[in-house]
Amino acid sequence: MKGLILSGGKGTRMRPLTFTSAKQLIPVANKPVLVYGIEAIVAAGIQDIAIIVSPETGPEIRQNVGDGSRYGANVHYIEQDAPRGLAHAVLTAEEFLGDSPFVMYLGDNLLQHGITPLVEEYRSLECNSEILLTKVPNPQSFGVAELSADGKVIQLTEKPPEPKSDLALVGVYMFDQHIFEAAKAIKPSKRGELEITDAIQWLLDNGYSVHPHIVKGWWKDTGKIEDMLEANRTVLDTFDRDVRGTSSGESQIEGKVVIEDGAQIIDSVVRGPAIIGRDARIIHAYVGPYTSIGNKCVVEQCEIENSIVLENSSIKHVDGRIEASLIGKNVKIGRTHRKPAAYRFMLGDNSEVGIT
Ligand code: G1P
Repeated sequence: MKGLILSGGKGTRMRPLTFTSAKQLIPVANKPVLVYGIEAIVAAGIQDIAIIVSPETGPEIRQNVGDGSRYGANVHYIEQDAPRGLAHAVLTAEEFLGDSPFVMYLGDNLLQHGITPLVEEYRSLECNSEILLTKVPNPQSFGVAELSADGKVIQLTEKPPEPKSDLALVGVYMFDQHIFEAAKAIKPSKRGELEITDAIQWLLDNGYSVHPHIVKGWWKDTGKIEDMLEANRTVLDTFDRDVRGTSSGESQIEGKVVIEDGAQIIDSVVRGPAIIGRDARIIHAYVGPYTSIGNKCVVEQCEIENSIVLENSSIKHVDGRIEASLIGKNVKIGRTHRKPAAYRFMLGDNSEVGIT
């Protein structure tokens, strides 16, 4: 079996971070979302993986993931010239996939229990496709499956305004080579894309077997900042305490906290679940629950919780607590002594700043 990870797309809902970075590389608990996907595929016994990238995201993804050997994988890259839909992405990988069955994994999805049970079930069932489903409160935002009383898939609809069920398609799918036939037969949807949901519906309509698998445990699609923060909370909750960096002065490290090598906690309180990255410095500060501080960040004289800070950023001397924030790489937040005393911002397009 082979693996196919989709990491194209423009990540418009995550701007401005996605102006300069691929959304799949935004870290959850200090690890890029994409890496969780690679690890899940490798854990299921699949090493041969292709990552579909866009011209914009390609260079950075290649630089971060490399040949995949560090994850025990053999990673190839395929460029999709424009976001023409998930079924179009499958077609761009036809040569790589050949007649091998494969797992397709959307690079911004996170699953608590990985995909090993799904891959094993697919191997034993000998069906043409297997889909993952989970109950969601907002099915109109996803592909939606309607099942019969005996649990067979009847109908799949992409983002229906009036969903017939609350079972959403999770972004992990198992296919055999018939999916290429399906992707070539369907027409673009209203949003102008070849939808994988329509391709699976084509399989059903043409007598191929599609097996539904209801996901146990949590699943997150990290398309928006709230989803990222929620995924961060959920992953941090699974961590055990592991303090490798140093703490000094009047510091307190409370609960499930990971402090990576070279990090320094100086006269500060870190209250878990939280992670402090390599060579970060926390000085006279409070890092509260559900916070991920990236490598080489400096957090000084301020309070932060329920937030994600990417590497090499510094946050200093902020009055009032920072909460529910996603702060990019190399960001500087701090005080100046310039006159007039005023807020001075340099923010990328689509940035958001909330001041009380
Ligand atoms: C895509 C699929 C949708 C699926 C979702 C899961 O949506 O089209 O059927 O439920 O991924 O993450 P998109 O993220 O492209 O809006």
